[in-house]
Amino acid sequence: MVIIKSKHFILRPFRKGDEKSLIEGINSKEIFRNTLRIPYPYTLKDAKEWLKKTSKDRKKKKPTAFNLAIDINDEVIGGIGFNEIEEHRAEIGYWLAEKHWGEGIMTQAVKVMTNFGFEKLKLRRIYACVFSFNKASMRVLEQNGYKLEGILRKEIRKGKKLLDDYLYAKVK
Ligand SMILES: CC(C)(COP(=O)(O)OP(=O)(O)OC[C@H]1O[C@@H](n2cnc3c(N)ncnc32)[C@H](O)[C@@H]1OP(=O)(O)O)[C@@H](O)C(=O)NCCC(=O)NCCS
Repeated sequence: MVIIKSKHFILRPFRKGDEKSLIEGINSKEIFRNTLRIPYPYTLKDAKEWLKKTSKDRKKKKPTAFNLAIDINDEVIGGIGFNEIEEHRAEIGYWLAEKHWGEGIMTQAVKVMTNFGFEKLKLRRIYACVFSFNKASMRVLEQNGYKLEGILRKEIRKGKKLLDDYLYAKVK
């Protein structure tokens, strides 16, 4: 089992019993607005499905996704992971409970996860897609050496809107 320890939190697999803190942390309009696949409102059914999915992913021989909980005192306060894992590349994605925003947690989490991706998963390219208005996420990536490669105009449909996607990547 993968457990990555950092000074203020640990990264560990999601597990049964996480439902309550997961819902408390992730059920946020702001998180919904800034991400593509996280529903709002976030229900118990969503939480259960997520725990099942991540558990299934872990059992796969060649997983296409690898997601960990950000844990402080046994509570899920965020999530970070690789999706679309294909050979040498993967997309990194993350969210953090609003009450912890601005404490430097995600800058640190992206740092340890990026190192893990390059060193243990042997990735050579990690990329992230950020909506044009998500300056905090851009900052997190830039502080970790990710470079802006381009702006994909009107790439994403979210509700009625077409959003520009900022493509960031770090290579090894
Ligand atoms: C993006 C997110 C993960 C950031 O997490 P965090 O732990 O608060 O980030 P950090 O504290 O490590 O760093 C945030 C940086 O952005 C800066 N920042 C925050 N809001 C900002 C804004 N509106 N404009 C510019 N910079 C901003 C902070 O000052 C900080 O930079 P600094 O270290 O130079 O001071 C969190 O806001 C979140 O979960 N957002 C919703 C989900 C999301 O956007 N996921 C990513 C999708 S690509």
